[in-house]
Amino acid sequence: MQNFNYRTPTRLIFGEGVIAKLPSVLKPLGHKVLLTYGGGSIKKSGLYEKVIGLLADFEVIELSGIQPNPKYDPSVLEGVRLCKENDVDVILAVGGGSVLDCSKAIAAGAKYDGDPWDLITYKARTKDALPIVDIMTMAATGSEYDACGVISRTETNDKVLYANSHLFPEASFLDPTYTFTVSKRQTAAGCADAMNHTIEQYFAADTTLLNDGFCEAMLKSLMENTKIILEDPENYKARAEFMLCTTFGCNGILALGNSASGWPCHGMEHALSAYYDITHGEGLAIITPRWMKHILNENTVDRFVKYGVNVFGIDRNQDQMEIANQAIDATYDFFESIGIPMNLRAVGIDESRIDEMAHHVAENEGLEHAYAPLAEQDIAAIFRASL
Ligand code: NZQ
Ligand code: ZN
Repeated sequence: MQNFNYRTPTRLIFGEGVIAKLPSVLKPLGHKVLLTYGGGSIKKSGLYEKVIGLLADFEVIELSGIQPNPKYDPSVLEGVRLCKENDVDVILAVGGGSVLDCSKAIAAGAKYDGDPWDLITYKARTKDALPIVDIMTMAATGSEYDACGVISRTETNDKVLYANSHLFPEASFLDPTYTFTVSKRQTAAGCADAMNHTIEQYFAADTTLLNDGFCEAMLKSLMENTKIILEDPENYKARAEFMLCTTFGCNGILALGNSASGWPCHGMEHALSAYYDITHGEGLAIITPRWMKHILNENTVDRFVKYGVNVFGIDRNQDQMEIANQAIDATYDFFESIGIPMNLRAVGIDESRIDEMAHHVAENEGLEHAYAPLAEQDIAAIFRASL
């Protein structure tokens, strides 16, 4: 077991109606609030009105239009400008992972005199950030319980993971009823994202029975509850358990004491969504089984057997490679069964830029150190197998 140093300071406020506590949570953090949100789903659902009502005693400045795969320009730059010009005290992010990630970069940029891109790319150290509170309307990324944000810069095809302990939200309001309106497509993508977060941590060289058990339970719960939600989008129990699962995806709690895995599928997917602006969870679902096939060998087969037997209930009395291949097929079949388009062409990606993307990933993602090391030609092969 590896040494670790772990802290998650975020307060989770979970359940139907918890938003009533918003004013008392915000009050100690300041008076001027930057309210950030996306393309309009919160207006359609009525949540915007509710939030504005709860903010009656605060001064509110708004940043709307934050897109999926949030963009440095204009959203982060505009948010930083608004914070500085208005002397904002606290950011309230209302939406999915994209709105929250963007808000995290804004929170840090607001406390920095130079170009915020320096912070995102670690050219400058993040020493401070505005406090962030969020109200999640989508369950997927786990951004509400972690210190990461993923920011895209279209002109350079960059999609960069930015992590810093100052980026933990102060508090996250998680009301599963706000996710009732999430479309089937986004629900499936969220499931694939959270499953992949778990898989990225499960496939490591040194793990524990405890962590393996957490991960296996997460995967089973995500699959079971997704099936229920797709049939019955307003099923509170299923939406609630799904939301709790996704919250644990990225803050390290599933891998305390594990050796690093390198998160290879995320490294590869970030290039796909940087170059083609696709939905993160769909890109992951497409890549995951192809990555699994690519890394399956005598050294990794044991992990696949455990995964196949414990997550999918595959009969353990078979040849090890046979079990592993069945586990990979079961992963593919599950994603397909929840409606995810399972090849890159179906999401608008052809082979024209595969070598360029593979080079970009090899240069920037450090996947030569992954659980199963990936060189540029491996990455290109996985992309080609995903076409
Ligand atoms: O913009 P609006 O109108 O709000 O619509 C959004 C958006 O179009 C919609 N949506 C959200 N809540 C809804 C809703 N529609 C109806 N009803 C609701 N209640 O869903 C669409 C997708 O939203 P988005 O925020 O982009 O989705 P998600 O939460 O999956 O976030 C994806 C982003 O997070 C990054 C991804 O790379 C991607 O950029 N990630 C962040 C991580 C982190 N911070 O730890 C880790 C992840 O691995 C991931 O990389
Ligand atoms: Zn993810």
